[in-house]
Amino acid sequence: MVCTILMGTQWGDEGKGKITDILAEKADAVVRYQGGNNAGHTIVVGGRTFKLHLVPSGVIRGNKMAVIGDGTVIDPWVLKNELDYLEDAGINTAGVVISDRAHLIMPYHKQLDGLQEAARKDGGKVGTTGRGIGPCYQDKAARVGIRVGDLRYPTLLKEKVENGVRNAILAGNAMGVDLEIDEVSVLRSLTEVGMTLLPHVRDAPLLLNGLVESGKNILLEGAQGTFLDIDRGTYPFVTSSSCTAGYASAGSGIGPFDIDRIMGVVKAYTTRVGEGPFPTELKDEVGKLIQERGGEYGTTTNRPRRCGWLDLVMVRSSVRWNSITDLALTKVDVLSGFNDLKICTGYRIPLEDAENHGLGTELRYFPSHIKLLEKATPVYKKVKGWTEMTGDDWKLVKGQEDLPGALLDYMSMIEREVNSSISIVSFGREREHTIDLSGDL
Ligand code: GDP
Ligand code: IMO
Ligand code: MG
Repeated sequence: MVCTILMGTQWGDEGKGKITDILAEKADAVVRYQGGNNAGHTIVVGGRTFKLHLVPSGVIRGNKMAVIGDGTVIDPWVLKNELDYLEDAGINTAGVVISDRAHLIMPYHKQLDGLQEAARKDGGKVGTTGRGIGPCYQDKAARVGIRVGDLRYPTLLKEKVENGVRNAILAGNAMGVDLEIDEVSVLRSLTEVGMTLLPHVRDAPLLLNGLVESGKNILLEGAQGTFLDIDRGTYPFVTSSSCTAGYASAGSGIGPFDIDRIMGVVKAYTTRVGEGPFPTELKDEVGKLIQERGGEYGTTTNRPRRCGWLDLVMVRSSVRWNSITDLALTKVDVLSGFNDLKICTGYRIPLEDAENHGLGTELRYFPSHIKLLEKATPVYKKVKGWTEMTGDDWKLVKGQEDLPGALLDYMSMIEREVNSSISIVSFGREREHTIDLSGDL
């Protein structure tokens, strides 16, 4: 049995969907353990593009169990549509399992997400995806959430919906808005959609631990990324769930000692969608070029993603915090054509702030407060680009020996700086545009 976590080391959109699909070939089950349909994971197979928000990317392989675990938040209407979309595309969804402990995103959570965002002052807006993620996790923490398992108990469900609607109206009033929520139609619609989902609903930890005991391979597919994590991230410009490796265990129900490998996905540059500080951001033509060449537009909201140089302070911190065993480096093709590239290896902060925080003036690890992060100046190393590679050249790459020397140097620098090794290199959207350097794919 091998249990692997695959997770993002940056601000999400590192290419987790693609790498999950690669690793899923050998997995018996693929599991989402946190987040909801704020995620957008893209898999491209034989020219066909699949964009998934809730169902684990392993579903595309057809014969896998695809588990939406305890720690997730599920918009049941979105999930129903995603299952229909997959079936219409000829993908069998019989292996989809929905945890009965996962929480349900209700229509009023989405309304509150919008209201909360509108109430935030300029400069304080998070730029959420508007999918109701924050308000749903709020209800979970306040112990008033509606869980998938409640769908089996109509009387309890009715009480919980009434309570949820009442709380939402009060929360709306507190923000000066009269929310119009038709409680009866919410309950009716939820019951209807719930009926279609119930055949997939199980006690997920029970099922997953059964797989662990019978020696099956399990892949835990992270959503978002380390710096969107509610504790480790750039708080408050974060999501409302824990996206770090530690939560994979809590959110799936598989014990920490049953996890063998933690692979971190690193995009060859850095992107961020939504608001919040971003030390290596490129607000110039270079940033625009990376955005265009990388197709850096949100999978979920289609918003342009902010782009910048690779930040190894982030990746180094992520490797430490998540006990990452090895890395997958993605989108190296997007950087071809640049004569020179920059890699951030440290941050410099003013002496006064350093003394205030009990730190030195050169930071190797990501600071805990965004006020300090805002004062951080990236320290760059300039490296040669791989100008010789043009679009079609990447199609001919079959192994490490076909990679340009400058890219191999770039990879060595990453490995040295973050103290981890790169097992997978991805140089295109398709499955085939991937090299396994570890020999165990
Ligand atoms: P995720 O949220 O981490 O799964 O990433 P997204 O799917 O939101 O965004 C990654 C985007 O990059 C998708 O459009 C992928 O198809 C694409 N992608 C993944 N790996 C590569 C790669 O190596 N090269 C290129 N050019 N695109 C890639
Ligand atoms: P994947 O799994 C990139 C960002 C939003 C916003 C912040 C909070 O595709 O990598 P939320 O709606 O979660 O309350 O928004 O988090 N965000 C993501 N950014 N990729 C994601 O997921 C994200 N999920 C949330 O843009 O800044
Ligand atoms: Mg994404």
